[in-house]
Amino acid sequence: MSRSLIVYFSQGGTTARVAERIATGLRAERYQADLCNLKDEQPPDVQTYELLGIGFPVYYFRPPFNVIDYANSLPKLDRLPAFVFVLHGTYRFDASNPICQTLARRGARLVGYFHCRGEDFFLGYLKMGYLFSPDHPTESELVEAEAFGRQVAGRQVEEQYFRQGDDQPAPIIYRLQRLLTNRWLFSQIYSRMFKVDAQNCTACRLCVELCPTGNIKEDESGRPVWGRNCVGCLFCGMKCPEEVISSTLTGPLFRPGIASNVRQASRDPSLDHVRVIHSRGHTRRLEG
Ligand SMILES: Cc1cc2nc3c(=O)[nH]c(=O)nc-3n(C[C@H](O)[C@H](O)[C@H](O)COP(=O)(O)O)c2cc1C
Repeated sequence: MSRSLIVYFSQGGTTARVAERIATGLRAERYQADLCNLKDEQPPDVQTYELLGIGFPVYYFRPPFNVIDYANSLPKLDRLPAFVFVLHGTYRFDASNPICQTLARRGARLVGYFHCRGEDFFLGYLKMGYLFSPDHPTESELVEAEAFGRQVAGRQVEEQYFRQGDDQPAPIIYRLQRLLTNRWLFSQIYSRMFKVDAQNCTACRLCVELCPTGNIKEDESGRPVWGRNCVGCLFCGMKCPEEVISSTLTGPLFRPGIASNVRQASRDPSLDHVRVIHSRGHTRRLEG
């Protein structure tokens, strides 16, 4: 039996669901499929596998930093077949390209690329009252994911798989947003600009437990303190039951960009959304 490894990052659970279904497809083709969510585990040595998949949600129009790090940490892959899958709440643009390019540089052979929509948990949009791509991935998207798993297993034996070109580059306005959320700014500036209202923080530790990179520690009174290894998921602020965590990324500096994205996406007939109220760690739908 051939062995496949699917390494993915999923903070909200949607990428995990797609990874599971791709694995179901692979298993139907008699592959062993091992799954590893970077949020919880260290990936095993890829060199003991015959197929590698990397999956991630689009964050700020690119792959999350921990996924970029994983791809960069890979050894030479010597024509190892590999596939990439991506979830996106609004626009993915060319977010998969850096990972596909890194795989190619490592010598992997790309045998498939899958993308579908995932419920958009970006706190900036939720705070503006919009949940994009609600209930995605849908069952039909998951069925496609499973079929994709079967396909890549088959493509193993084919000589060539040609991806239909790279995804389209992001328009300038989104590229600017990507630049304003680059890694240097995250580690040097935004990571340090999380604030907690110490008076009303109950030191419940939820933010510490949710942080996918272990970037939140506690001070002597149990209040959160952020380090420099933030991927920007904003789940600390999103899930806080007291709503005492704030960050630059949803503050006045970014609000015009977020409002412009919301305007664009909410008028786009190819994207669905519901109106919501986000309060004290919960998102409540107003319709639909
Ligand atoms: C911090 C953050 C940034 C995001 N940025 C984008 C983006 O630039 N483009 C997009 O289409 N979706 C974006 N999304 C939506 C995610 O790609 C979508 O919610 C995905 O399904 C989440 O995957 P998960 O549930 O596995 O964590 C963002 C979500 C979060 C939380």
